[in-house]
Amino acid sequence: MSNYTFPKGFLWGGAIAANQTEGAYLEGNKGLTIVDLLPTGKKRMDAMLGNISSFTPQEGEFYPAHEAIDFYHRYKEDIALFAEMGFKALRVSIAWSRIFPTGEEEAPNEAGLQFYDDLFDELVRNNIEPVVTLAHFDVPMNLIEKYGSWRSRKLVGLFETYAKTVFARYQDKVKYWMTFNEINMLLHLPFLGAGLAFGEGANKKQIQYQAAHHQLVASALAVKACHEMIPDAKIGCMLAAGTVYPYTCNPEDIFQGMEKDRESYFFIDVQSRGEYPGYAKRFFKDNDISIEMEDEDAAILKEHTVDYIGFSYYSSRATSADPEVNKNVTGGNVFASIRNPYLAASEWGWPIDPKGFRITANQLYDRYQKPLFVVENGLGAVDEVTPEGEINDDYRIDYLKQHIAEMGEAIEDGVEIIGYTSWGPIDIVSASSGEMKKRYGYIYVDRDNEGNGSLTRIKKKSFGWYKNVIKSNGQDL
Ligand code: BG6
Repeated sequence: MSNYTFPKGFLWGGAIAANQTEGAYLEGNKGLTIVDLLPTGKKRMDAMLGNISSFTPQEGEFYPAHEAIDFYHRYKEDIALFAEMGFKALRVSIAWSRIFPTGEEEAPNEAGLQFYDDLFDELVRNNIEPVVTLAHFDVPMNLIEKYGSWRSRKLVGLFETYAKTVFARYQDKVKYWMTFNEINMLLHLPFLGAGLAFGEGANKKQIQYQAAHHQLVASALAVKACHEMIPDAKIGCMLAAGTVYPYTCNPEDIFQGMEKDRESYFFIDVQSRGEYPGYAKRFFKDNDISIEMEDEDAAILKEHTVDYIGFSYYSSRATSADPEVNKNVTGGNVFASIRNPYLAASEWGWPIDPKGFRITANQLYDRYQKPLFVVENGLGAVDEVTPEGEINDDYRIDYLKQHIAEMGEAIEDGVEIIGYTSWGPIDIVSASSGEMKKRYGYIYVDRDNEGNGSLTRIKKKSFGWYKNVIKSNGQDL
């Protein structure tokens, strides 16, 4: 027996996102969105960083999101498998461009609305609580092309209309909402996170923080609408979390670690506490950033704070004030981090740090004193199918086991956690690399990096393992 217990009604499950899962990129009148322009290979990183000039898919490139794992047509089969594992919750996102294909229509697209009605009905039928993100790396392409995406105030109103439309439609089916997935991604991969593309010589920091302000106001307006329209719902924010360790106990390193953490906390400080923190004001001043705000913004932010803190945790990070030490960065991870000599890493160079999960959860709770929801965690790894058709993913079980145990410890530490939805319970397209080879699932999908494969679903060894975890409410790891 472990020395922790998970609360009754704990929301065990998995998390996926429209942009990496659905495919059917033009079906049901859907408009183009960010990932529809992200190819595989070297060009992907460049595009995600915002170096992108054409807003139409190019001949001869492969765009993995166009078909993804065809969840759009196969969701019933997939949900049946989630139900077999005993899922209590499934985190999904709504593709904004299915509801408003250009982002600016007068009336929403009925085919898009119907798709999510059917999806949520199927979840509810299977006793799985839908947890819905309004924007998971998703901005209709027309808004990127016409307004420069979130750098324009125009998007605030358009997003509010979109949010109100889906709240009205799904108010009886969805009780857990989140506004922007990994809102801090905007600083790291600005095109992926927020549809921001940059011309030559652009003042990127200025544009990013102006866009962040617009997202923060839009998020608060969505919180307001959700509270008014669905009083029994909860709506949260979502942070790409992972505490930053100072490399040494040199105060310079400690300070650097604090600054790096604040780079991310900045967003949640506004969404949860309702105002710009003092350190941000200093940062803007030191960096010549001036944010245009409307008179009513301060009140909007203050009055409409989130109910819970959603976060993803894959690994901790490390930093140093010494430029020489800082050169020793880990591969793969979009949040630049020094290689931590105490930690092993995944095949993609992401450090593996279960204790860091407990530390991160404690720090977030200490800071915000609001319930936490772990809405992503997992190991991206290469899986081999044996000649017998089995996938023995003990490495994944091992990673998850250690992380769930540390989550249990965090709960014992007094941290309030309402659920755990591991990332990619079924293999989906990797956000950062576009690969299918980087798999997180309990369910294998027969598809490769080039788009070949039957899309058949196969249960991995971890499938039965996770089923037991849920059945035992986290006791049987
Ligand atoms: C988070 C995202 O950054 O991490 C997901 O919210 C993403 O969309 C996940 O897929 C894992 O990252 P990757 O690059 O391995 O797919």
